Amino acid sequence: MNTPIIGEGNIWIRLPFPDDSSEFTTSSASVFYNPEMELNRDITVAAISGFIKRIEVEPALLSYADVMSASGIRGIRMASEVGVKCWLNDWDQEAYEIIQENITLNHLEGICTSSHQNANTLMHQEQFDIVDLDPFGSPAPFMDAAARSARRLLCITATDTAPLCGAHLKSGIRKYAAVPLNTEYHREMGARILLGVAARALARRDKGMNVLLTHVTRHYVRVYLEIIRGVPFADATMEKMGIISHCFQCGFRSWEYGLIPEPVSACPNCGKKLKFAGPLWLGTIHDHDFCRIVLDELTYRKSGKCKDAVKIIEFCRDEVDIPTYYDQHWLCKQNKISAGPIDELVEELISAQFRTSRTHFSGTGFKTDAGLDRITKTLHELDFKRNARR
Ligand SMILES: C[S@@+](CC[C@H](N)C(=O)[O-])C[C@H]1O[C@@H](n2cnc3c(N)ncnc32)[C@H](O)[C@@H]1O
Ligand SMILES: [Zn+2]
Repeated sequence: MNTPIIGEGNIWIRLPFPDDSSEFTTSSASVFYNPEMELNRDITVAAISGFIKRIEVEPALLSYADVMSASGIRGIRMASEVGVKCWLNDWDQEAYEIIQENITLNHLEGICTSSHQNANTLMHQEQFDIVDLDPFGSPAPFMDAAARSARRLLCITATDTAPLCGAHLKSGIRKYAAVPLNTEYHREMGARILLGVAARALARRDKGMNVLLTHVTRHYVRVYLEIIRGVPFADATMEKMGIISHCFQCGFRSWEYGLIPEPVSACPNCGKKLKFAGPLWLGTIHDHDFCRIVLDELTYRKSGKCKDAVKIIEFCRDEVDIPTYYDQHWLCKQNKISAGPIDELVEELISAQFRTSRTHFSGTGFKTDAGLDRITKTLHELDFKRNARR
């Protein structure tokens, strides 16, 4: 077995791959390693380091567990770059062996522990200050144990965006016990369905959550949830659950809090029958101060994907706190006009006193508290001005 070395952040890892492979590629390795997730890991290092600074605890006094570690790269980076005590687990024998080798390779035996068991068993047996859930696909089967195990911070990656976002409706309903809708803002829909599942799992353990950061990048959703222990916080978290009503005809949407809301069934804008998504999380999805801390960390660390990471977190920092976004191209198509630069539209709505921003979810998306009528009027006016200039 060959074990080529790969560098990321300030650490090195070995990956096993078969002797008979003529050329090494990361996908031919027999233990999972995805170089595309370097961006996700760079943000994780910055977010966890920022979180620890914010709670003003010595990193060495805190425990972090990547309960599905594969090569161990995430936890090894956390130990080396942040200085937390790390627990690296994977149920796969080969992964377990390479995790041990990688801990030794980076001289981190003093602060890293490894184990070889089912992540659910581990999380039911042990508690950690920070738990990272990074499965293949859906984190749903691990949510209950993670909610039990995590004391201060829960980080979750979900790569099953099709069920979460409503593209595979029945699968989404089965996995998340919620109804997603495949709308223009499906990426945010997926994030809010996942956050809703996390909120309910934590509430069952009398824990509440503050969502510090949410991003949907490429094919995955990533969330960072600060955990607040106690029944009042669990109740307050549940109060942020609700449903979104959506009109597929005109794009109107509204939201109601509560697990048994009483939404109107006809679109107030065009009269068509509304569709409903939920229960899902309607609370805030970014803590703007926390985003600033993550940006400081990214800028100071300058890791491999720093530039892309900064771009994402800057968008998150500036996003207005509204549960859906509009897609300019979809609206323009409906109105049979052409779309202009997104910044022009955002500035126009801001100058008309509406809370408006772009969104990290989509390059053609924007969030605003302006109603659909006003948005449509603005789009027509901008189109008219552009045509007059030609
Ligand atoms: C997406 S990879 C983890 C990637 C890693 N966290 C990283 O940043 O590179 C998922 C890993 O979870 C492991 N796994 C899947 N189900 C598991 C379970 N129930 N318990 C423990 N490990 C599991 C797989 O063997 C695989 O190595
Ligand atoms: Zn409508």
